[in-house]
Amino acid sequence: MADILDVQFVPLSAAPAGAVLLLAGQELALGSAARGIDERTKGALTKAARAADFTAKAKTSIEVLAPAGIDTPRLILLGMGRAAKELDRLKLGGFAFAQLGARKGETGTIVADPADPGEVGAEAFAADLALGALLRSYAFKKYRTKKTEEGAEEEAPPQGLRTLTIQCAKPDAAAKAFGARKALAEGVFLARDLVNEPANMLGPVEFAERLRDLSRTGLEVEVLDEERMRALNMGALLAVGQGSERPSRMVVMQWHGAKSKRAKTLCFVGKGVTFDTGGISMKPAAGMEDMKGDMGGAACVAGLMLALASRKAAVNAVGLVGLTENMPSGKATRPGDIVTSMSGQTVEVLNTDAEGRLVLADVLWYAQQQFKPRFIVDLATLTGAIMVALGKEYAGLFANDDKLAAELSAAGEATGEKVWRMPLAKAYDKLIDSKNADMKNIGGRHGGAITAAQFLQRFVKDTAWAHIDVAGTAMDSARTDINQSWGSGWGVRLLDRLVADNYEKAER
Ligand code: BES
Ligand code: MN
Ligand code: ZN
Repeated sequence: MADILDVQFVPLSAAPAGAVLLLAGQELALGSAARGIDERTKGALTKAARAADFTAKAKTSIEVLAPAGIDTPRLILLGMGRAAKELDRLKLGGFAFAQLGARKGETGTIVADPADPGEVGAEAFAADLALGALLRSYAFKKYRTKKTEEGAEEEAPPQGLRTLTIQCAKPDAAAKAFGARKALAEGVFLARDLVNEPANMLGPVEFAERLRDLSRTGLEVEVLDEERMRALNMGALLAVGQGSERPSRMVVMQWHGAKSKRAKTLCFVGKGVTFDTGGISMKPAAGMEDMKGDMGGAACVAGLMLALASRKAAVNAVGLVGLTENMPSGKATRPGDIVTSMSGQTVEVLNTDAEGRLVLADVLWYAQQQFKPRFIVDLATLTGAIMVALGKEYAGLFANDDKLAAELSAAGEATGEKVWRMPLAKAYDKLIDSKNADMKNIGGRHGGAITAAQFLQRFVKDTAWAHIDVAGTAMDSARTDINQSWGSGWGVRLLDRLVADNYEKAER
């Protein structure tokens, strides 16, 4: 996570650093600081607005270069729209960052003094803008050694902002409010980094080592190797990895933050297939490179656990990830092979490319045995079929518990990481019955995301459970005001919100 944007909060009276961005509300409503700057510059802002017919519609802006009366190369006046909700403020911060970043200079200032901050105080308004800007600033450039485009004659393109100064009414309170948000952003960045990392650099062992490092945050991290997993009879997970030269791992990350001793554990489970070739049922070549992101569920769980620990969330939570590489080889699982899962149930592997469910089957079972959790939420880049159903806007939600499903849907609306509930039913479950074993790992041509979820449900016993199919959202989802990266870190903010809104206060 190199070059993370440095965010500073300063009083409205501070001298500006770099270009200055001001916010204009509906019908050009300016806050008092912006009005003050307008006066100091002899009405440069309002005159420019009139000249440009600028009415401060959301995401429109005007610019005044080298204004007299203030020490800045440029003033940018940005229409903020209604910005009524938290997500609006994050997006506004992201957009403002992009506006400043598109100009030259390594530093810039946002004057966070809107005429109408909406439902929150000045400090939360400023802190939300800062989070949006921070999320937008992420770029994965680790492996780019040249600063300019190949063969380009011109000087290096702008490297973007390194420092963002936010002027606001209560800078100390804003900086404090930003603390938890920054912890969240670090979780999102960890998830994005892991998803973006190529599979030659990040296999199961390397992934596990990255997670072991998180123990510095107060997380208790345990790495289970193949020997341990064999002793636990995790025959489904191990069958996926057996074609690879690289051994599988399972990692358990525990966070003990609840005040009450009786607080039940919240479990989060992630699919961590560090590369999915499909195995013997191999995928076609086109687009296979994307399967480096088949650990997006595990990355999200890791990012969430980092965020919970860094902001010292008042819950007991455990993140469990099954890490393995799905490769074809002389040792690989064949179509038709029958494997025994940790639960004792047998699975006929009819397609080695339906491997994620095999990984999750054992991790889900282990999570229940070990932690008797209050609920389990699993995340997995599980099926192409979920993208056929929902595209890349919504992730697919499957749940055996209406309350948990409703909480996740609400958290999705609040964070913009939206989920759409899909059905589970006996008739779908029957589609994975097998003549030769307890079940098969594929369910025929139709409803592929649902039969995958039905498969997982066979490994859930008397536990509230939700499964989120993130195949369309964890990677290469639509770029937004707060994410420009291929690996989106999708789900970290969703689950952090689920925890914060529903499980922290109650457990205190
Ligand atoms: N990892 C894939 C699903 C996937 C596809 C994720 C595209 C992200 C983008 C998963 O392991 C898989 O291969 N699923 C198969 C299941 C099928 C064989 C029943 C699929 O969706 O085609
Ligand atoms: Mn697959
Ligand atoms: Zn997969």
